[in-house]
Amino acid sequence: MYEHLTVVKHPLVQHKLTLMRDKDTPTAVFRQLLREISQLLAYEITRELEMTTRRIETPLCEMDAPVLAGKKLALVSILRAGNGLLDGVLELVPSARVGYVGLYRDEETLQPVQYYYKVPQDLEDRLVIVLDPMLATGNSSAAAVDLLKRSGANNIRFMCLLAAPEGVERMGEAHPDVPIVTAAVDECLNDHGYIVPGLGDAGDRMFGTR
Ligand code: URA
Repeated sequence: MYEHLTVVKHPLVQHKLTLMRDKDTPTAVFRQLLREISQLLAYEITRELEMTTRRIETPLCEMDAPVLAGKKLALVSILRAGNGLLDGVLELVPSARVGYVGLYRDEETLQPVQYYYKVPQDLEDRLVIVLDPMLATGNSSAAAVDLLKRSGANNIRFMCLLAAPEGVERMGEAHPDVPIVTAAVDECLNDHGYIVPGLGDAGDRMFGTR
């Protein structure tokens, strides 16, 4: 399996994920759960951020206190479902820069088709966290990471809620330098490219379309 894969097995993540998988969970609850899980995944994916210290004065004395080092993070949402992870992560890292990659999946070929691309400047100096709840075939994710690398990004991590083994493998082949953080790796993809058992179409479930 993929060397840089982290499955977050924390009980809160797993419990919330089960609620999200349930087909009877309403849209508003689904969205709220995704926001909550995104923050727990963000906690994991930012674990190794570089730190420095800043001299501050507490009411009692001076101290060298830890603060994040380097340029602000860049969060890149793969539209449209990535936005479901974005809001929660932005709450934790409010000064992060934000980019969007618009890719839709051709339902026949399952290949990604690009329709939007807008990302922050200086990607080469930033940690870039790519957000997409469902790592299915891995085609869109690999394509999004290709685009980001062409824009200069060289320190990229990928956050998803659910992954299929096929997607993990595809990312591992295309971008072995990109660590993946997910809440679960499911059994397989079905013939339509859906993750099984999965949770259905993440975009439809979070936006109430369909
Ligand atoms: N995208 C989804 O929203 N769900 C899947 O199962 C696969 C891709």
